[in-house]
Parts: sequence; C-alpha cells; structure tokens
Amino acid sequence: MSRWAWAEVSAAAIEHNVRVVAQAAAPAQVWAVVKADGYGHGAVLAARAAVAGGAQGLCVALVQEGVALREAGIELPILVLSEQPEASLEAAVRHRLAVAVYSDEQISALTAYGASNHPVHLKIDTGMRRVGAAEHQAVGLADTIAASPAVQLEGVFTHLAVADEPENPFTDHQLDRFDVVLASLAAAGHHPQLVHAANSAGALAHPRSRYDMVRAGIAIYGISPGAGVDHLCTDLRPALSLHARVSHVKRLAAGEGISYGLRHTFERDTTVATLPLGYADGVPRRLHAVGGTVLVHGHRRLIVGVVTMDQMMVDCGDDHVLPGDEAVLIGSQGGHTITAAEWADALDTIAYEIVCGVSARVERRTVEPRPLD
Ligand SMILES: Cc1ncc(COP(=O)(O)O)c(C=O)c1O
Repeated sequence: MSRWAWAEVSAAAIEHNVRVVAQAAAPAQVWAVVKADGYGHGAVLAARAAVAGGAQGLCVALVQEGVALREAGIELPILVLSEQPEASLEAAVRHRLAVAVYSDEQISALTAYGASNHPVHLKIDTGMRRVGAAEHQAVGLADTIAASPAVQLEGVFTHLAVADEPENPFTDHQLDRFDVVLASLAAAGHHPQLVHAANSAGALAHPRSRYDMVRAGIAIYGISPGAGVDHLCTDLRPALSLHARVSHVKRLAAGEGISYGLRHTFERDTTVATLPLGYADGVPRRLHAVGGTVLVHGHRRLIVGVVTMDQMMVDCGDDHVLPGDEAVLIGSQGGHTITAAEWADALDTIAYEIVCGVSARVERRTVEPRPLD
C-alpha cells in the first residue's frame, strides 16, 4: 500500500559523502553515525551505503539500533555512543556492540552480563557537559577496565560542542584537555587503539580532532553541520528529498481564509492545492508562518494556512494544477531547490531536526540521485 507522500533516499549520495569525509579525514577511519534511523534516511540503507563508501565502523545511540543493524546482516564494528540501561547490556554483548562507558556501574554491569573481553570506549567529558567521565576519573576507570576480563579498552573519546564554529577557541580548549587525559592514560600504561573526538564538523574543519577515527553523521547525509562550515561541504550531496502528490485542487475567492484559525486570507482569487502530508509526517506546523514554500510545476508556491496533522495547502496562483501533480517539499524541481537547511534557518533550528523529523509514516524509497531538473 502506498500513499501520495514519500521520501526518496539516495544510497549513492551517502556512499559519495562518506568518500568525501574519508578523503578529508584520512588517514583517520570514518565511522558512520546511523542513529535515529540514519538521521531519518533509514539506518540499514545508510549503513550499507556507508560501508560501500569506505566506513570502517558504525555508531548508534541505542542498543536496539545496533541490534537492528546486526539483524540486517551488518557485521561492521558498531559503537553505542552513551551508557544504556543495564537491562539492554546483555543484547549489546550478544550482538558484539562496543559500548561507551564512563561509570564503574556500567563496567560492573557488563561483567555481570557474562561479557568477555568486550570492547568498550571510555568517554571523557571535556566541556560538552552532556555525558562522560570527568577528566580526573579517566585513569581510575581505565584501571578498572584493565582489571576486568569482561571488558577491554578499545577506545577513548570525547565530543565537541562547537566544532561547527571554526573560529570558536572552545574546540581547541576541549582538545587540549583531551590531550592531557590521553597523556595521563599513556603514562598509566593504557594505549587504546581508537582515540576519537570529531563529529562531521570536527572531521572537516579541525584537523587535530581527527585522531584515529571520526564519527561522521550529518555530513554523510549530504548536509552541512552549520553555516560556519558550509564552505567545506560543497562536495556533499543531499541524500533525502521529500515529495507528495496534489490530492485536491480548488479555486478560492479573494477575502477567504484557510486552515485552522483562518490565519491566512487571500488577497485575490487563486488556485489552492492540498498536499496529503502534515506535521505528523514531519512538516513543521509553523512552516507557513515563516514563508515556507513547496515546488509545484517547477515554481515555488507559498504554504497557506497552518500545516495540519496530515494535510497542508499551497497557493498555486492561476496555474493549471491537477490532483496527482508532484510537489517537492525538500529537493529539486524546475531548477529550484529547497533544502532541509532552508527550512531549518526559517524555523530557527538545525537541519538535523528536520531530517530526523520525517516520521516513520513516510515511506522511504531508495533511488539514485535525480538529475537536477
Ligand atoms: C557522540 C556523538 N558523536 C558523533 C555524532 C555525529 O555528529 P554529526 O552528525 O554532527 O556528525 C553525534 C551526533 O549527535 C554524537 O552524539
């Protein structure tokens, strides 16, 4: 069963983007971040494409995300990026998912779940203040790991808070602190084989953050991590586009209002097309209020009235638009392109939130990149 709204995902674009990041980060390995269903693109598709592009590992947020990749037959090393409930660790061990650790509790839980030499990556908080061990705890935790036959210290890592702002000195400040931790670990005899700090922006903009591997997420989907690094993302190709078919067309008179709250009033007679997708599909309700547009017949059409749960309306002027005509919400048509970043800028958010927000209800169709038409 299909519906008149779908997303197209290009595996070839993801493969290409991984190559671009790999080239920039070499000789560091690229581990592709495919959490949140591959940032809304489909985790299995993204993982396979990333492998084809040269990724040497994968990162997920949840144990169940890693298990789903294993069940799809993906054998690459997988790292779960933050500590997880004890109850999920048995699955992590069974499915050979390396896990982030930063507490004695997580290390002893792994021991209790029958792990043997299970790879762990020690996470250090160098300033992001989200999760991770304090710097002064690093050696003690590494000693505990070394003393346990259940686990082995495969990696040590940190996460950067402002890597997408290349001029911001805080990245160097974080990396300086990280280097001090690495030196103290080495002095205590700990030599993990994978040291890592970089997200996409780090990989592209901060050579010293690359260490042994980079954890690249947004860039592999063809999206810049932020305006400050746009100039380093010109070779990336967006991998996701969002489409719908016009489901209903009508002529409305000047003075009429439209949608809940009648927040938009037409200044002249016009043709209005309804598209059968809405905020339950990931089109933000507020997109109408920030001048959001949709491409129909190769022209930008203003979204009129609030986006409703399952449907939205666009002003097509005097054009002869018919039910079944294709609309492009994110992507290209007629030489125009609307990007997730354009939505994000208008809505004062980031493109990550836009692509992750395309809900599970929207069918993903795998396609090769369309030529710009
Ligand atoms: C710990 C960690 N590493 C890497 C990434 C990838 O970041 P990006 O998508 O900016 O490349 C994320 C994403 O949020 C993350 O949480």
